[in-house]
Amino acid sequence: MKIIKAKNYNDMSRKAANIISAQVILYPYSVLGLATGSSPVGTYEQLVEWYAKGDIDFSNTTTVNLDEYVGLDASSKQSYRYFMNEHLFTKVNIDMSKTFVPNGKAEDLYAECRRYDDLITSLGGIDLQLLGIGHNGHIGFNEPSEAFEKTTHCIDLKPSTIEANKVFFYSADEVPRQALTMGIKSIMQAKKVLLIVNTEEKKEILEQALFGSVTPEVPASILQLHPDLTVVTCFE
Ligand code: F6R
Repeated sequence: MKIIKAKNYNDMSRKAANIISAQVILYPYSVLGLATGSSPVGTYEQLVEWYAKGDIDFSNTTTVNLDEYVGLDASSKQSYRYFMNEHLFTKVNIDMSKTFVPNGKAEDLYAECRRYDDLITSLGGIDLQLLGIGHNGHIGFNEPSEAFEKTTHCIDLKPSTIEANKVFFYSADEVPRQALTMGIKSIMQAKKVLLIVNTEEKKEILEQALFGSVTPEVPASILQLHPDLTVVTCFE
């Protein structure tokens, strides 16, 4: 595990964007696993800036996102598909047909989960997975539980996650209660994992995740077992 200390959010974002752009420059056909939320906004901004300068070419890159709210699709501003279109996909030369986000409006959510896993397998897995961490230690929407869920699945969001994510909605009542999330197996099988953590309030959960016991009660703790994990944080 490599832990890189950044000076602040901008510095963390630049460092993360550097790692992602190195991946895309060295391996243009990479499959990038992407995250949404507040943590990666600056990273995407930086990638967009470097793309505009002509430094990165995404034309051969494929992306698979970690998760999506059940009931929302690209027409909803709070959906993760909308977020990705807004922050990255429409601002660089990526082929939209090679950008994948679970379909939160699928009629058969179970079938959608199987389809998503098959898709990731057919792509040959993920080369670089970008992650944030939830206040309760979740990665993707793998919430604390009694066992690690291996495959893409539908999850009931914990009250603390609903509370944390209400900032993106008009009120907590509007936050969907369920989400589809990539499972721990796809995340752990990514060749490289890049975890970015900016807010000091996540210091304790990050310490538990990186140095505590490996337990599904702290889903991110499984990352200790990943052979190529880089963590970029804004604190000691
Ligand atoms: C989002 C995701 C979540 C977030 C986590 C942190 O796609 O997978 O695990 O990374 O909830 O969210 P922020 O960055 O908003 O603090």
